[in-house]
Amino acid sequence: MTDQAVPAIINLDVPGPVISRHLYGHFAEHLGRCIYDGFYVGEDSDIPNAGGIRLDVVEALRALNIPNLRWPGGCFADEYHWMDGIGPRDRRPAMVNTHWGNVEENNHFGTHEFMALCELLGAEPYISGNVGSGTVREMSDWVEYLTREGDSPMVRLRKANGREEPWRVRFWGLGNEAWGCGGHMSAEQYAAEARRFGTYCRDHGENKLYRIAAGANSDDYAWTETLMKQLGGLGCAYRPAAFMQALSMHYYTIPGTWQDKGDATVFDTGDYYRTMVQAARVDELITGHSAVMDCYDPGRNVGLVLDEWGTWWNVEPGTNPGFLYQQNTLRDALVASVHFDVFHRHADRLVMANIAQTVNVLQAMILTDPGSGALVLTPTYHVFEMNKGHQDAALLRIDLPAGVPDRAVESVRLPTVSMSASRKDGRVLISLSNLDAAETADIELDLRGGALTDVRSRILTSGGLQDHNTPEVPGIVAPRVHEQVKETASGLRVHLPVHSFVTVEGRLA
Ligand code: AHR
Repeated sequence: MTDQAVPAIINLDVPGPVISRHLYGHFAEHLGRCIYDGFYVGEDSDIPNAGGIRLDVVEALRALNIPNLRWPGGCFADEYHWMDGIGPRDRRPAMVNTHWGNVEENNHFGTHEFMALCELLGAEPYISGNVGSGTVREMSDWVEYLTREGDSPMVRLRKANGREEPWRVRFWGLGNEAWGCGGHMSAEQYAAEARRFGTYCRDHGENKLYRIAAGANSDDYAWTETLMKQLGGLGCAYRPAAFMQALSMHYYTIPGTWQDKGDATVFDTGDYYRTMVQAARVDELITGHSAVMDCYDPGRNVGLVLDEWGTWWNVEPGTNPGFLYQQNTLRDALVASVHFDVFHRHADRLVMANIAQTVNVLQAMILTDPGSGALVLTPTYHVFEMNKGHQDAALLRIDLPAGVPDRAVESVRLPTVSMSASRKDGRVLISLSNLDAAETADIELDLRGGALTDVRSRILTSGGLQDHNTPEVPGIVAPRVHEQVKETASGLRVHLPVHSFVTVEGRLA
């Protein structure tokens, strides 16, 4: 244990903005083994299922309080034609999934299956419409099919397919990555498309749409600026036009190059620190996009949605390069914990975030074994679980009078301690990460405006940053009780071992 502790002041009686539960959102694309094999195994599978949906996956995700699920893409969304995915499965037309592996998509998992999955999960659906290769009418019909009550052509079709009542679907994406796989458009071209699609996606009855325009990649602030200019109504009180309620952005943590992103499990400490520098960049990017939005929308009426984030590694050896299957180590877990601290701090603009992707693709929560079907919870899953108390809680600001330790990583300095805190229903949750792989850290929490009782702490760490869970040894990286939290005169002293994630929870006295 180091002698010098990091002082951190938390005013327990000064709640900040609410951390939307939707910051803990998910993403499931028709990509590799995410939908088929991951969520959906078909009704004839030996794996216990409900209408083909894996029940063990549902149970694991319910334990995270999964708030929403984005579907069907990603790039796939802009070549997906929803009418191919309704009606009797054996009569649904197949297509080629040209983006992902060039494999045949049989459309057995379609709209009804997705809505059944959301109902099982207790999650809100977030549907990405097809702007790239679809029509305005197609998307408008999809909204009507899902959300309209009473009688209409689409309602009659829905009822013929076995669903009487409409569903509630608030979140609609107006395409995806329109600057790339979603149509290779300029920002101006896309803004015009988004106006048309957004206009004809109607509110039916009480189902009020929350339209999310396809936003920028990484630090493309010019894209955000164009959309804010062209999709909003300028003036001293900015009133976002009815066809856009939010704007998205995407950011992946890739420490290598696009061609050689780095290996998920074989890496050294230098690779690890470079990864954490890239992960921490999400703060700069959200700050940058928010600043642009503030120029047009100072009242913060338009939401920012980071609907794709996470690590992106080279695929596992021997797997289809188009399936984006990667292992998940303690390093991935720390990438996630740092992202959440950033998300919490931006709770007044960032309204939703979706990790890519939930099962078997990129930074997944769950990996399923293709042979045995065994399910493995990844280290990233455990961060979502340990942090779930932040969902819909009020942010508690943390003041750091002496700053936090940092270390040089090539030409930049990486802050090696990251924290955030919140309160809800008389309980306080504090999340703390020590990113340093060689130095422990001690945090002196100065708790003001209240006190905590019944304090419990958990830790996620392991002997090596490369450690990961497998069907054979599923619990190598899993949360354990953390004993190194001591009461002090002014609060708590928390010891953080090297490369660890710790949560401290207590009841407000
Ligand atoms: O998540 C994988 C892909 O990454 C998505 O389909 C696309 O939107 C992004 O480029």
